[in-house]
Amino acid sequence: MSRKRARVATTKFHKYTQELASSVQRARQAGCLVRDDGVIVDVVSSNLSPKQLALVEEVKQCANNLEAMGGREEYQRASQLNTSLFSTSKWLMGLMGSWGWLEGLKVVDRDGSDSRRDVRILEIGAINTQLLDAAKKTRLRRNNGDFNGGIAAKVERVYRLNVRAIDIRSTDPRIEQSDFFALPNPKDAYDAIVCSMVINCVTSPQDRGKMLTKIFNFLRPGGVCFLTLPRLCLHQSKTMTRAYFEEILTKGVGFEIMKEATKDSPKIAFYVLSRPMNLSPVKCWSDNFGTVRPLKNGKKFRNSFTVILSQAEVERA
Ligand SMILES: C[S@@+](CC[C@H](N)C(=O)[O-])C[C@H]1O[C@@H](n2cnc3c(N)ncnc32)[C@H](O)[C@@H]1O
Repeated sequence: MSRKRARVATTKFHKYTQELASSVQRARQAGCLVRDDGVIVDVVSSNLSPKQLALVEEVKQCANNLEAMGGREEYQRASQLNTSLFSTSKWLMGLMGSWGWLEGLKVVDRDGSDSRRDVRILEIGAINTQLLDAAKKTRLRRNNGDFNGGIAAKVERVYRLNVRAIDIRSTDPRIEQSDFFALPNPKDAYDAIVCSMVINCVTSPQDRGKMLTKIFNFLRPGGVCFLTLPRLCLHQSKTMTRAYFEEILTKGVGFEIMKEATKDSPKIAFYVLSRPMNLSPVKCWSDNFGTVRPLKNGKKFRNSFTVILSQAEVERA
């Protein structure tokens, strides 16, 4: 697949999934039984009003558009190509290396001595196994510490990482097929959550807010989220600006932005967000977070990205 075809596929997928989600919502409001994927349930067309029939047709058309572009399969193939062009895992491995996390996190044992434990990582929307591979990577170490192998050598992991990778549609047996929204709270909170180019695939602004709040909840205090999204979402939407997105992340959800680790490429914004050690000193609810409002003048915008937070959810976090 060429880069151009991959770009077209991801753009079409986002457009058609948004259209499908809105048409399903409209059809449900009119009393039609429609599944999220656009399949019409138990419909006898003679029982439908003309308005319902039109809405059902609209849903079918949106589902057909999605199928015709190759659906989620084509989208994931395109995303795999995009990922191979900018490696998110390289970026976050570099950062974790600079923090000393790749050798594991220090814990003080009951007797006062130090040991190390694996870094617990959740990768949401994993379409490749780069992080899983890094966690499995091994080397031979001789007892005296050199790497020549030999009889006294033992196999050890290179990085102390414990990675759980999930995707709603898994492309590898090691990637767990799960919806992030359906995961129960973890027994042990995560040290790091990777959410790369996923929030822009979530179709409703409310669910995007829910995703950010749930990530915050799943992290231990001091844990970090590696969040990436297309810059287009921040710069080409009438209802979003970069400053407002950062207000949502900080004052809304409660994250601190690690400015020194956050960066931009020409197309992608790379955020490193940390969950503060204690109650978030920056969190401060504004009713704006619960609504959508135009933030820019003008008519032509290539994107309609926005985020809505639920006050009850962020207050529980
Ligand atoms: C654009 S791809 C990004 C993949 C990869 N993380 C990257 O950086 O290139 C988005 C992925 O997120 C997955 N995804 C979207 N919503 C999800 C959810 N609620 N739970 C788990 N995975 C999700 C999609 O299936 C898709 O594979």
